[in-house]
Amino acid sequence: MYTQLLTAVVAGAIASASPLYSTSPSEATPDQSELFPFLAGAAPYFEYPLGSNYYKMNTEIPDSCNLKQVQVFARHGERFPSKGTGNKLIELYKNKISKLSKKDLADNKYFSFLVDPAYEFFLPDNSTLELETTTENSITGPLNDYSGERTALKFGNEFVDKYSSLIGDKLPIFTSSNKRVYDTAVNFAKSLSKYTNVSIDIQILSESENEGANSMTPAASCSTWSDSDGSEVIEAFDDSYLSNLAARLNNATKGLNLTSSDANMLFSWCAYEINAAGYSPVCDIFTQEELILYAYHDDLSSFYSDGPGNTVVKPIGSVLFNASTTLLKNPPSEYKAYIGFTHDTDMQNMMAAVGLFDTGVMMNSTFEYRNTIYKKSWMTPMGARFVLENFDCGNSSYVRYVINDEVLTVPNCSSGPGFSCEINDYYKYTEERLANVTDYATACNVTDAPGHLSFFWDYQSKNYTAPLNLGAY
Ligand SMILES: *[C@@H]1O[C@H](CO)[C@@H](O)[C@H](O)[C@H]1NC(C)=O
Ligand SMILES: *[C@@H]1O[C@H](CO)[C@@H](O)[C@H](O)[C@H]1NC(C)=O
Ligand SMILES: *[C@@H]1O[C@H](CO)[C@@H](O)[C@H](O)[C@H]1NC(C)=O
Ligand SMILES: *[C@@H]1O[C@H](CO)[C@@H](O)[C@H](O)[C@H]1NC(C)=O
Ligand SMILES: *[C@@H]1O[C@H](CO)[C@@H](O)[C@H](O)[C@H]1NC(C)=O
Ligand SMILES: *[C@@H]1O[C@H](CO)[C@@H](O)[C@H](O)[C@H]1NC(C)=O
Ligand SMILES: *[C@@H]1O[C@H](CO)[C@@H](O)[C@H](O)[C@H]1NC(C)=O
Ligand SMILES: *[C@@H]1O[C@H](CO)[C@@H](O)[C@H](O)[C@H]1NC(C)=O
Ligand SMILES: *[C@@H]1O[C@H](CO)[C@@H](O)[C@H](O)[C@H]1NC(C)=O
Ligand SMILES: *[C@@H]1O[C@H](CO)[C@@H](O)[C@H](O)[C@H]1NC(C)=O
Ligand SMILES: *[C@@H]1O[C@H](CO)[C@@H](O)[C@H](O)[C@H]1NC(C)=O
Repeated sequence: MYTQLLTAVVAGAIASASPLYSTSPSEATPDQSELFPFLAGAAPYFEYPLGSNYYKMNTEIPDSCNLKQVQVFARHGERFPSKGTGNKLIELYKNKISKLSKKDLADNKYFSFLVDPAYEFFLPDNSTLELETTTENSITGPLNDYSGERTALKFGNEFVDKYSSLIGDKLPIFTSSNKRVYDTAVNFAKSLSKYTNVSIDIQILSESENEGANSMTPAASCSTWSDSDGSEVIEAFDDSYLSNLAARLNNATKGLNLTSSDANMLFSWCAYEINAAGYSPVCDIFTQEELILYAYHDDLSSFYSDGPGNTVVKPIGSVLFNASTTLLKNPPSEYKAYIGFTHDTDMQNMMAAVGLFDTGVMMNSTFEYRNTIYKKSWMTPMGARFVLENFDCGNSSYVRYVINDEVLTVPNCSSGPGFSCEINDYYKYTEERLANVTDYATACNVTDAPGHLSFFWDYQSKNYTAPLNLGAY
């Protein structure tokens, strides 16, 4: 279907001698967005799926309220896989997939796309690994609806639409020193510069382990963090969906010998190919049951590595959470929009400290609904954004979170306009939450680096200009 449409588009472009670029990308690619909530945070950006059937709240600023401040903590946009995942995928494709006999594949239920001459594996080599996807480096060029570049430009447009009253003449934008994070910040800034007269000052904060709390990535300096927390719970999870998937594909495909870990890689192939090409035929391989188990498996491991199940994650996340509260209490006078770009795990750390998806109950190895509050795929897809809005209505001030374009209420505090939280009640909430976690420097054994975040307030004198890195910390 995809290739037929794509071929038709190309033929049409040639016939009319008009450039392919003028064709609307959405005509070329079938919509796979219903899969995004299952792709373990590697899916392109999508709204937090409260959906139209749930208690979906209007994200407009309530009538008769005036914006006072906005904060944005955002993930980089859609990207290619990391070196680790990407090189494994290239190996899998080279050693097992590309060796299958074309003749045998023609009628294959799962892999017949491989014989379509229009299909091209999205990683012809490893030169794009770790990078943001752009119109330039996407395998389908401008036909990719989901490039990280496009998502960041769109986010910038939407930001201007809603928050132009807070943008001012000069605005710093903070980014960690990873290249894809920086590229996202630059693309976001391009939209601000295009639609307003603002002069943007990009400040680059090092991801190095020497920065302590004064960064967008405080986990990088936390020597006590370990990803083995909860390992017994994760290991006890029944992962036979992977060996069953491998068996199903192997049985249907002459010469194929996928292992369980190869089967696991297919989900990454699906997700990252959508990031890089706008569409992936591999995604059609999975049953819905497999997608649910894959997503839950990832929620479980993320809960214990970067979420509330990890012993030092709340102290790590308290750095950005505390800075966010301090911005409300003691805002720098020269600007009113506080914007920082970082990685998914740093946002997960912050959300754990905030307590949005934290019931206090530890996740266990059994998939069941009461165990599914923590949906990582929904919290931090590519391009995820945690937005805090502060507005005045009448004589009072209110705070509201908008996560991935949905209002998610402050726990136990949502009786203000637009389901917001009155600011003094919000301060009570943050104080209780912060009082209940060990201080970052103590929990992380940070002794000779900053214990608090200061860049929002001191960037003009410090001028943060860390060199960029391809790989994340
Ligand atoms: C690309 O692959 C080559 C050969 O396997 C390897 O030496 C190199 O480190 C890889 N580069 C990246 C960016 O992963
Ligand atoms: C930008 O500045 C120009 C020149 O002062 C002005 O005409 C224009 O309206 C401004 N645009 C915006 C969006 O403020
Ligand atoms: C293997 O494939 C055959 C023929 O396609 C089918 O009849 C059989 O049910 C399959 N077995 C499994 C375990 O999927
Ligand atoms: C498939 O691979 C496994 C190890 O990865 C090996 O033990 C087995 O013999 C292989 N089966 C076939 C049919 O190639
Ligand atoms: C929050 O930040 C302020 C200002 O940096 C600092 O004085 C305070 O100790 C911090 N509180 C916590 C709980 O980290
Ligand atoms: C797993 O957690 C859920 C939700 O908290 C709970 O209802 C269930 O009893 C737990 N199962 C086990 C085996 O502990
Ligand atoms: C609220 O503000 C109005 C003026 O905007 C003032 O007349 C009124 O007394 C204030 N009410 C309270 C309770 O402070
Ligand atoms: C919300 O309120 C309930 C009832 O007072 C309490 O049990 C719960 O701990 C509160 N939740 C949070 C996150 O403060
Ligand atoms: C404080 O943390 C403990 C341990 O994580 C938890 O049991 C308790 O509910 C928390 N209290 C509040 C007010 O969040
Ligand atoms: C804390 O760091 C110091 C060095 O900076 C080290 O000597 C000490 O063992 C560390 N303590 C813990 C509990 O990791
Ligand atoms: C900040 O650093 C940049 C890059 O090194 C430099 O171009 C700029 O002039 C510096 N600004 C200040 C105020 O020092």
